[in-house]
Amino acid sequence: MSADTLVIRPCGPLHGTVTVNGAKNAVLPIMAACLLTAERSVIENVPHVTDVLTMIEILRGLGVAVEFAGDRLTVAPGRYTGTVAAYDLVSRMRASVCVLGPLLARHGRAQVSMPGGCVIGPRPIDLHLKGLQALGASFTIEHGYVVGTTQALRGGRVYLSGAFGSSVLATGNVMMAATLAPGTTVIEHAACEPEVVDLANFLSAMGACIEGQGSPVIRVEGVPRLRGVRYRIIPDRIEAGTLMIAAAIVGGDLAIDGALAEHLGAVIDKLSEAGAQVEKRNGSIRVQANHPLRSVEVTTLPFPGFPTDLQAQMMALMAVSRGVSVLTEKVYPERFMHISELNRMGASITREGSSAIVKGVSRLSGAPVTASDLRASAALMLAGMAAENQTELRGLEHLDRGYQDLEAKLVRLGASIERVSSLPATG
Ligand code: EPU
Repeated sequence: MSADTLVIRPCGPLHGTVTVNGAKNAVLPIMAACLLTAERSVIENVPHVTDVLTMIEILRGLGVAVEFAGDRLTVAPGRYTGTVAAYDLVSRMRASVCVLGPLLARHGRAQVSMPGGCVIGPRPIDLHLKGLQALGASFTIEHGYVVGTTQALRGGRVYLSGAFGSSVLATGNVMMAATLAPGTTVIEHAACEPEVVDLANFLSAMGACIEGQGSPVIRVEGVPRLRGVRYRIIPDRIEAGTLMIAAAIVGGDLAIDGALAEHLGAVIDKLSEAGAQVEKRNGSIRVQANHPLRSVEVTTLPFPGFPTDLQAQMMALMAVSRGVSVLTEKVYPERFMHISELNRMGASITREGSSAIVKGVSRLSGAPVTASDLRASAALMLAGMAAENQTELRGLEHLDRGYQDLEAKLVRLGASIERVSSLPATG
């Protein structure tokens, strides 16, 4: 666990312009997609977050040369022969599972440590396996590893929906494997997230033949080989949404450059309904808000619904909005660990099944709190900005997995946040 603590003090409205980084959840599968060719690819606009560093370790563990300089990642697979993603890396980051499809396509074998449960609830990989089986792979579980083998993949048809709808990384895994599988693959109930579209665009630039990305039916015609490319990652819609909610929670006037309105429709709609003024510009979103906002009802859903990855941040906003809000989680019904920490800060939130009932309070009170996961860490940071007195946020290894410089960006906009390496004991 990181020994660092964020010391967050109350702040007034935020003002200024901020630029979002490249999308973590787009770059991780795209890094795995580089395994589909021996040629070198250059990926630009890559965020400096620890999940990217973990994926670099996985690729290097397979024998791939990787360099990360500035925001540019160079991946040169050459004749790599590795097929194993080890337990210590997969247990750090579940997205490691997306090497499964590319390794099966390139080597006919993949061995990936079976991802366990995680704090946001059960996260099975049955859809990944079902999709790859439809393309001719077989799987066994051996000593905690999923071992996939195939003589040769071939195109197939698969309906890829589970109890909670489509799956982003399972869609990615099957799409990647299908690019080199002779024949036609049809993925029904495919995930429509912008990160899936970015992966499809990257694969198409490599020479893959893909249609329908961004819709629930994706069609892939297998090609004999792919080439290395230079590619720029899309802006991170979750970072953009987190900054939009930051402006709403303490008030202010923010221009968020790089935020794409077409990726954030549900968030724009809900913040507007709550009373913020949201203006869409070309390649930027401006948010003006006067705290406090009004209560709203929000349900998380796969894209284009409200993203689960902004649920915790939205809950922090609801905690200080007027009236009673209801937040229903339909993607990860157990993703509610942050409720108890927000309540320790004086919020009034009760859980009823997969919903949280949030009674707005006029002010939160700063407290020592610990982040349970990446998005909870952002939510607690925003709550601390809107709270009286000092909040001390621990568990920063979660924050650092997915946000590059979030606290520094907020400080430039008027927040008072300091990262300290150890705090004297209180009490
Ligand atoms: N699911 C299954 N079976 C599977 C796969 C998923 O039942 O084989 C279920 C999940 O348990 C969940 C639902 O399907 O209830 C959707 O999960 P999905 O597979 O779409 O999630 P993911 O692809 O593993 C990505 C993001 C997550 C984000 C989700 C949903 C990456 C690296 N991760 O995960 O991001 O919450 O999509 O949008 O792209 C985060 O960034 O904080 C994060 C958790």
